[in-house]
Amino acid sequence: MNSTAVTKPSLEELDKQNFLHPFTSIATHLETGPRVIVEGEGVYITDNHGNKYLDAMAGLWCVNIGWGREEMVEAIANQSRTLSYFHTFASMSNEPAIRLAERLLKLSPGNMSKVFFGNSGSDANDTNVKLIWYYNNLRGNPKKKKIISRWGSYHGVTVAAASLTGLTNTHKAFDVPLPQILHTENPHYYFNAPEGMSEREWSQHLAGKLEALILAEGPDTVAAFIAEPIMGAGGVIVPPEGYFEAVQAVLQKYDVLMVADEVICGFGRCGRWFGSEPFGIEPDIVTIAKGLTSGYVPLSGSMISEKIWQVLKEESPQIGVFGHGFTYSAHPLAAAAGNANLDIIERENLVGRAAKTGDYFQQKLRDTFAEHPLVGEIRGMGLIAAIELVQNKATKKPFPLELKVAPGMAQLCIQEGLISRSLPQSNAMAFSPPLVITETECDEVIAKFSRALNQLTDNLVKEGVWKSSGK
Ligand SMILES: Cc1ncc(COP(=O)(O)O)c(C=O)c1O
Repeated sequence: MNSTAVTKPSLEELDKQNFLHPFTSIATHLETGPRVIVEGEGVYITDNHGNKYLDAMAGLWCVNIGWGREEMVEAIANQSRTLSYFHTFASMSNEPAIRLAERLLKLSPGNMSKVFFGNSGSDANDTNVKLIWYYNNLRGNPKKKKIISRWGSYHGVTVAAASLTGLTNTHKAFDVPLPQILHTENPHYYFNAPEGMSEREWSQHLAGKLEALILAEGPDTVAAFIAEPIMGAGGVIVPPEGYFEAVQAVLQKYDVLMVADEVICGFGRCGRWFGSEPFGIEPDIVTIAKGLTSGYVPLSGSMISEKIWQVLKEESPQIGVFGHGFTYSAHPLAAAAGNANLDIIERENLVGRAAKTGDYFQQKLRDTFAEHPLVGEIRGMGLIAAIELVQNKATKKPFPLELKVAPGMAQLCIQEGLISRSLPQSNAMAFSPPLVITETECDEVIAKFSRALNQLTDNLVKEGVWKSSGK
């Protein structure tokens, strides 16, 4: 053996030396290093040490069709053999993008007229903000620019999208939100609604708060309201009964556009094609990403309604060229992946399957965990769900976030071979598995989560953080 041989650094070492990770604690990462994922198949992923996990989060809520779909590989490979890339500036176009745009508009909620393609949910929401400003400039309403989002929402991290996001960890030390972006109340019924108030009353209260904000700012300055049909990263918050009906009545009164951020809810997650459908949302703009390609390659879209399109069509000549677009807007590989992904969703009826398996999963979660002393609430719809961990079930007292109870639970799940995500700035554990998950695999999620939850309970008792009557 050559004694001068230099040992190569491990992948983990190289990662720590060179890679700045998104949404990762820099200090913790330098201590613990990365978990390197090498393979995915169906609902399972495997790391470079051969550990296999059932990914009950579908990556980041996105791998709707599951991993390892040969049809996707073929579609991307075939497209890269014929036309790997061309831009779509100055009227250039490509067939997969043309076909995908047509299909998306047929599926979309509301009266959508055109799709603008981007690369991520964040840039799509930045595009939306610019489109809203552009639209009101073209209409001769240059003061009507403010956009109202909600505390707790997640809309991405680019400058405008981070401003829309209502989670303060995306604002702190980044000099956002922008002054044109405002936030209204989070509709979280379990924690925020006053004792004894019905869901419908709570919705009316929230719509009243929204109206008060619009009036205080001046309706002639408020351009749009943005919401996820079910708030995802902010805790899987299912809107209270009558919420969007009440909110949209206010928006219509003051000529305020409705933007539905369907980045998580779109493409079957809630058991319908789009989350707007079950909640009666009639959007003027729709944001799509994630399930659009099931994460095989990046692609996003901003869909605009006929009403907005008419203004752009009639009035934009006074400005000139529509001065917005990305090198990779409508990338042919991404569009080919989008078409193949839609083929799979349609052929395998994954939307209907998500509804059916979702009913099974939601019921099983409630049957198994509703009585557990650490579980405050179980919520969700279709194949998106959350379990709220609480320190006191009777009073709904949450665990202080410094105790990192939910992140600890996520680690215990990993030890069981399960990925369930602890959501930022909360004690909620989320589930958002690939829509191809079977009932047997749902049972596996429940069994693994159950063992992790028992372990968490033992640990909290040992650490003196919790005792069975609550603290
Ligand atoms: C509702 C919603 N909108 C926008 C985004 C941002 O998407 P991306 O991470 O692709 O920029 C996300 C990401 O999780 C999201 O959940």
